[in-house]
Amino acid sequence: MKIFIDTANIEEIRNAWNMGVIDGVTTNPTLMSMEKMKPEKIMEEIIKIVKGPISLEATHLDSYKGIVEDAEKLSRLSKNVVVKIPMTEEGMKAVKILSKKGIKTNVTLVFSANQALLAAKAGADYVSPFIGRLDDIGNEGMQIVRDIIQIYKNYNFKTQVIVASVRHPMHVVEAAKIGAHVATIPPNVIKKMFRHSLTDAGIKRFEEDWKKALSFR
Ligand code: G3P
Repeated sequence: MKIFIDTANIEEIRNAWNMGVIDGVTTNPTLMSMEKMKPEKIMEEIIKIVKGPISLEATHLDSYKGIVEDAEKLSRLSKNVVVKIPMTEEGMKAVKILSKKGIKTNVTLVFSANQALLAAKAGADYVSPFIGRLDDIGNEGMQIVRDIIQIYKNYNFKTQVIVASVRHPMHVVEAAKIGAHVATIPPNVIKKMFRHSLTDAGIKRFEEDWKKALSFR
């Protein structure tokens, strides 16, 4: 399973990229709004750091023409750019056009298997079901990932499933067990994936024992 980092924070992206644990990045307007930097500058910096897929969101959503224009502009920034397009009728018209032009797309704000089926039909490269937000309203978010993977397998769709809106490490384990292509994970969850109390205790004991070992003549 590929791991993307779900943030627009440059330092978090650089840190995760330098550790070799991420393959790409996903952003959205909310994540951009949390940084004290112009979105254009953030995009430029991410592109310098990450040599893998970078999802940047289209924002002129009223008609497919606006989405296509956004996508063309964003895709000129780097060959790694994947344009995030919300799951709407206009959005799917844009996906169809962009897929013919060879511009990569990630259909976002997906909350049902039917939406994912339509995105694949339109020619999306990626689809992003939002698991945590479904859990928040009392649904089992991960069930739609299972459904989508099964449907895509049945019909040999090439669209890759990005498990998004990940809230805790067990979401990641579940995504990997199901066989999702990608999980996009916020920095705080990546940090939690590293940690285990037995690792910390083990390091402490090795440090103490090494001091003891060095004291022998
Ligand atoms: O990638 C989409 C994701 O960022 C949404 O996450 O936590 O806002 O539901 P969240």
